[in-house]
Amino acid sequence: MTAVTPDTYYGPDFGALLEQDPEIAGLLVSELDRQRSGLQLIASENQTSPAVLAALGSTLSNKYAEGYPHARYYGGCAEVDKVEDLAIARAKALFGAEHANVQPHSGASANLAVYGAFAAPGDTVLAMSLDHGGHLTHGFKVSFSGKWFNAVHYGVSQETEDIDYDQVEKLAKEHRPKIILAGGSAIPRLIDFERFRAIADEVGAIFWVDAAHFIGLVAGKVIPSPVPHADVVSFTTHKVLRGPRGGAIVCKEEHAKKIDRAVFPMMQGGPLMHGVAGKAVNFAECATPAYQAYAQGVLDNARVLADTLGELGIRPITGGTDTHLSLHDLRGVGVTGVDAEARCDAAGIVLNKNAIPFDPEKPNVASGIRVGSPSVTTQGMGTEEMRTVAQLIHRAVTEGDADPEHAVTREVRGQVTELLTSFPAYPEPAAR
Ligand SMILES: Cc1ncc(COP(=O)(O)O)c(C=O)c1O
Repeated sequence: MTAVTPDTYYGPDFGALLEQDPEIAGLLVSELDRQRSGLQLIASENQTSPAVLAALGSTLSNKYAEGYPHARYYGGCAEVDKVEDLAIARAKALFGAEHANVQPHSGASANLAVYGAFAAPGDTVLAMSLDHGGHLTHGFKVSFSGKWFNAVHYGVSQETEDIDYDQVEKLAKEHRPKIILAGGSAIPRLIDFERFRAIADEVGAIFWVDAAHFIGLVAGKVIPSPVPHADVVSFTTHKVLRGPRGGAIVCKEEHAKKIDRAVFPMMQGGPLMHGVAGKAVNFAECATPAYQAYAQGVLDNARVLADTLGELGIRPITGGTDTHLSLHDLRGVGVTGVDAEARCDAAGIVLNKNAIPFDPEKPNVASGIRVGSPSVTTQGMGTEEMRTVAQLIHRAVTEGDADPEHAVTREVRGQVTELLTSFPAYPEPAAR
């Protein structure tokens, strides 16, 4: 078990938790051990900084602050007003945005607020389908978005496997949606924001970008920003961005009041002020040259990982990636997504099965896997290590087993452990 000291990433007084509730304290330790002992390739995860973790573990969690800075429904908000003012100012500066709302508790809640601001139940929304890379909250039938709105979906072209912009235009003209939504959770290529903007203008729709996945690359200035083109951009703060779990929204000034009212009081109550503080800390981190270098590393690593897997017969959808993630078709090696995920897991490689466009398999089996480079890049790995990681994935998937005792699986796990020794997650303070 990991040696525990009060400054070992658990907030201000881990010792007190250990004494009072060893059961939960033990689980915190074993989760940190899990994060340290595997290769973390989930594209939507990252390892936030000790500074952000300190903000999250702070007494700001005690404070009720319904409302907005300097216009609250509770007394005693002087200090948290300063925190939220800083978070808003930093978000606006980081993204060159006219307005920022830093209160959404998560990406899904940020999205609920955007619907609330611009659409009424029954209105039509045009978004990317989940099975081609969209997100549950983009009108999928089991989500509020699919239940309350008339969701029309576009997808990718069979030929390029990238967004079919002609289809977007055709559907927009046919259905005249209130909102056109771009973004998703398994899109490896850059999105043509200008084209979306032109289509939205043609049909008088609000153009909304859900940038949850790639906003960190925008913050690091390594891919183009949707902010100048979109009416509104929602995002999560915990993926490539590397902040606390949470959501945020930036928009044009003309939409500021609508967005603020849709977040509070329409969609949620008091903000999680410890989370808002964590976001402020993260936005400042993202404005540094060190973060920009990190974002470039994420891109370089994702590209090499995707290309090397491709060379080994695990084909990247669209032929590669321009972002932090790639989606791979496993049919060439004759393994399903569910089996690949289990075999990798047994070998200490954490990734997820994923449907690929036009997937013949059911979503819980899937023909693909999704891999992302945010966490391993945070751990300091570079393109050379990505070649090794691709080989380890290939070996685990094609020769390994879901049984951790399988000879090849054990061997791969040993190589993973060796790699992690040189690139540890959350190194002990002495090693930092
Ligand atoms: C594109 C997109 N939007 C929204 C969300 C929802 O974020 P959360 O899980 O914080 O609610 C995700 C989460 O993965 C996402 O990928």
